[in-house]
Amino acid sequence: MGQGLEQQSREQWKTRSGFMLAAMGSAIGLGNIWKFPYITGENGGAAFIIVYLICIALIGIPIMLAEFAVGRNTQKDAVGSFRELTPGKPWFITGIFGVAAAFFILSFYGVVAGWALSYTTKAMSGDLLAVPADQMADHFVGFISTALSPILWQLLFMAIVIIVVVKGIKQGIEKWNKILMPTLGVLLLILVIRSVTLPGAGEGISFLFSPDFSSLTASAILVALGHAFFSLSLGMGTMITYGSYVPKDVKLPTAAVGISLADTGFALLAGLAIFPAVFAFGMNPGDGPGLIFITLPAVFEMMPFGQFFSVLFFLLISMAALTSAISILEVPVAYFMRKFEWSRKKATWILGIIITLFGIPSSLSLGAWSGFTIGGLGFFDAVDYLASNILLPLGGLLTALFVGWALGKKKSLEIGGLSEASIWGKLWILGLRFVAPVLIIIVMLNALKLI
Ligand code: PFF
Repeated sequence: MGQGLEQQSREQWKTRSGFMLAAMGSAIGLGNIWKFPYITGENGGAAFIIVYLICIALIGIPIMLAEFAVGRNTQKDAVGSFRELTPGKPWFITGIFGVAAAFFILSFYGVVAGWALSYTTKAMSGDLLAVPADQMADHFVGFISTALSPILWQLLFMAIVIIVVVKGIKQGIEKWNKILMPTLGVLLLILVIRSVTLPGAGEGISFLFSPDFSSLTASAILVALGHAFFSLSLGMGTMITYGSYVPKDVKLPTAAVGISLADTGFALLAGLAIFPAVFAFGMNPGDGPGLIFITLPAVFEMMPFGQFFSVLFFLLISMAALTSAISILEVPVAYFMRKFEWSRKKATWILGIIITLFGIPSSLSLGAWSGFTIGGLGFFDAVDYLASNILLPLGGLLTALFVGWALGKKKSLEIGGLSEASIWGKLWILGLRFVAPVLIIIVMLNALKLI
């Protein structure tokens, strides 16, 4: 079957740190810097953050370890790994959902990342901060509803993603994450220091860290749970695919905990870069998705050296989006390379182009095509809803059930690198068997408006 040959020629990460940085690069993205701050703002701050941290610990870390274990053990893509572990059974459908979710998520992720890229250049040229603060919202809406410009930025962003993925695991993905991730850390720290040292920053800091549980709503808890998934890149086979390039000597439980901590730390730091500044200048933290494109540029206008910091900020988002988008494209690329024996170059270009084209209606749906709706949602929102609220939780649920039940406890503990006698081994199995499935089902029923 040429199996031996196929396994020999399959790439692996060059170093352990290269793998850790690439997985962190996948997890840390628009979810951390764009979405986490605005959903925290909308849902009341510190109490929401505590619920989010609990979700990461109870569901996120166990499922991340499950995905790594499945990928590393089989050295296969999201679909092939399920087929290999349970031949002849329908579990591989989990991987098909993953490939579909990757396709949908990347299509609109590229659109938002294109906005960030465009805002980086607007910040550099000074055009952004020349917009009067009270016209920032109109400026943003005007830009994203234009037909051509956002699409050109999306095409540029996707071209960069494709070029990195074509280069492969070591020379493309690992190399770029090794450069971009430390840079990202430094940029974010500079922004945090600027923000927390502004006069009046204290209010923003207590918004993030002094919980008021009376303000917590049931829907906030569900938002936190759903976001834990998205932020850790779970439920669509990304961590299975990245796990499949991990050498045998890497300790997966330590890696899963480390990557989750880094992702969460980054989200909190993004909050610390944004909220103290938002409060210091009397802006509203609950401004929703426009927070970083509308509220923040207005904040930068009032800040000393605001232009410099605005360039750093939008560069930060663009780079974080790039390392995540790379990991999303790798899911279908790895699948098509094995399944249809395509070369990496062919798989990356063909799939990359199809996904990019599919993103165009998402972009147009915010302007010219806003009249076209599916179930009351515009195209962008419909694709986001399908992928984030249905496919990702479904993928996570099936993965938890697969490793928790279908594989058998002994095999699962063996591939996860945990022992049955240890408390961590027991907790992991318990989490996969009961805690994660029950909580995910509640979130999904809620998303489908059934409860
Ligand atoms: N985790 C990324 C973020 O927070 O922006 C988004 C993402 C990447 C989601 C990869 C899912 C995925 F498989």
